[in-house]
Amino acid sequence: MRGMHRTHRCTEVTEAQIGSTVTVMGWVQKRRNLGSLIFVDIRDRSGLLQIIFDSNLVGEEGFAKAGTLRSEFVIGVTGVITKREGAVNENLKTGTIELRAKELRILSEALTPPFPIEENSQTKDELRLKYRYLDLRRPDLQRNLMLRSRVTARVRSYLTEQGFLEIETPILNKSTPEGARDYLVPSRVHPGSFYALPQSPQLFKQLLMCSGYDRYFQIAKCFRDEDLRADRQPEFTQIDMELSFVDEDDVIRVNEGLLQAAFAEIGVEVQLPIPRMTYREAMERFGSDKPDNRFGMELKNVSDVVKDCGFGVFTGALANGGSVRGINASGQGAMPRKKIDALVDFAKGYGAKGLAYMSVNEDGTVKSSFAKFMTEEELQGLMERLEARPGDLLLFAADKDKVVFDVLGSLRLHLAESMGLLDKNTYSFLWITEFPLLEWSEEENRFVAMHHPFTMPMEEDLDKLDTDPGSVRARAYDIVLNGTELGGGSVRIYQDDIQEKMFQVLGFTKEAAYEQFGFLLDAFKYGVPPHAGLAYGLDRMIMLMAKEDSIREVIAFPKVKDASCLMTEAPGTVDEKQLEELQLAVVKKKTEE
Ligand code: AMO
Ligand code: AMP
Repeated sequence: MRGMHRTHRCTEVTEAQIGSTVTVMGWVQKRRNLGSLIFVDIRDRSGLLQIIFDSNLVGEEGFAKAGTLRSEFVIGVTGVITKREGAVNENLKTGTIELRAKELRILSEALTPPFPIEENSQTKDELRLKYRYLDLRRPDLQRNLMLRSRVTARVRSYLTEQGFLEIETPILNKSTPEGARDYLVPSRVHPGSFYALPQSPQLFKQLLMCSGYDRYFQIAKCFRDEDLRADRQPEFTQIDMELSFVDEDDVIRVNEGLLQAAFAEIGVEVQLPIPRMTYREAMERFGSDKPDNRFGMELKNVSDVVKDCGFGVFTGALANGGSVRGINASGQGAMPRKKIDALVDFAKGYGAKGLAYMSVNEDGTVKSSFAKFMTEEELQGLMERLEARPGDLLLFAADKDKVVFDVLGSLRLHLAESMGLLDKNTYSFLWITEFPLLEWSEEENRFVAMHHPFTMPMEEDLDKLDTDPGSVRARAYDIVLNGTELGGGSVRIYQDDIQEKMFQVLGFTKEAAYEQFGFLLDAFKYGVPPHAGLAYGLDRMIMLMAKEDSIREVIAFPKVKDASCLMTEAPGTVDEKQLEELQLAVVKKKTEE
């Protein structure tokens, strides 16, 4: 590069520079030889610029060198910006100009990449991730990561303006059994002891409130050993915050401002206030605690309509304490049998024993799997409740509430997708409030905290902690965007007696609670402010902003389904010597006894 200095990124040059000499550096996108002229598109993270090599200007030697250029060579070119002589390229930011080369330097050569470096790659994910450093050269991924950087910067400055302090919390921590599975790190100095990587900075941020920092935030790496999905990675990033002397309304207010600032980055104006809905209402209307409210197709309870009908599937579910609910897939009445069968199978995948359906013909008569068991009045009642019109398809599930919500909530999304109702340009936010405090775990045969054990119960439900813990609501809130849980938080318990009761309900002895969380409980004894907080999944936020379907597309080096990295091949085995130092031995699981 000696003597050559980059003056501009490729698309920083404009018509205003016509006639001036500039130097750009980047990767060869493509080369075309047109006899006496060679055209090369050069690419950097800003985009493409067309370069023309003409031996009259670049000299015979330079022209010959240009002839050797191949895709992904790294070059530096000094030349003069001119108005484009050939056809203007509307798709390019630099489509009206070109660079007439005076000097070419080949900074490095490149092997032929295993897939083309271009937008909307059709390349298989495995190959993309194995060569992630090449994949990351593609313009769509570069745009995503640049967006991520801009949004993070915006969030930082917003929170700083709001009086938040950015404070780092440790990565090597003590394992706590609540929540997802921990990633463990063996200690060399304390053989047989392990650190756990943080699932979130929860306990530390509460301690920072005890220490008087008042408003804390962190762009925090979190680690959870759980099954991967499109919106879940084993390591992910939170925008994490905690505030003192506040209630849920204060937290919501600050965060509505944050969302407004962040989404302004993609030109979306978030309408405030963001609507709020209780957990109960969300379940009743959408069958989900993270409803996608970009479209209707709401669940309708028809239990009262069918309570005396002759269809055993319905009355049986009611007799079992369940309910019968339905959704209206508007305009889908002509769906062929095969497709309906596929819907039934889909529902079964979510625990349904079946799915009852009814299509409304154009003449108002119905075709149904169960009409023969119903009176005319009951059929009319169902149609009215579901606001059915000719051409609609009504789908019903009968079971325990939990199953019915799960089945119809999922079916609703599934249908919306196939009906093209999920518009990625619409950003529909929703706060969900009044979550249940506790969830019954069949596996552990005890209540577990739905959010975490430090979440404050609602005052009006406090007396039910003893008598009916399952019905106690929490001062917890989630922020939902287009059916994705973007973030969540709660007002925290800061009173000894409530915290003790909470541990009791969770089945912790006082000793066990102290063993796990003693430092926090002790800290609270030295003067604790009322506090509350929230954390967003940053990856999810960027995924939705970038209109991607997976957080993998907004994380530079993500992991795949089995939590491995296809590029580095992590996790890997380690040397005997390393194990020895840690006083660890690997015991192979016996496959047969
Ligand atoms: P929670 O567990 O709800 O709350 O996490 C907050 C947000 O983090 C995101 N998230 C994930 N993103 C990607 N991959 C994952 N595996 C993953 N798990 C969670 C979600 C989620 O809404 N300490 C509390 C927050 C608080 O109470 O202040 C907490 O961690 O978007
Ligand atoms: P079956 O009596 O199981 O043959 O079911 C009769 C019809 O009712 C079929 O169309 C089933 O798909 C449907 N069905 C069965 N169980 C349920 C259920 N729990 N909820 C809704 N429909 C059901």
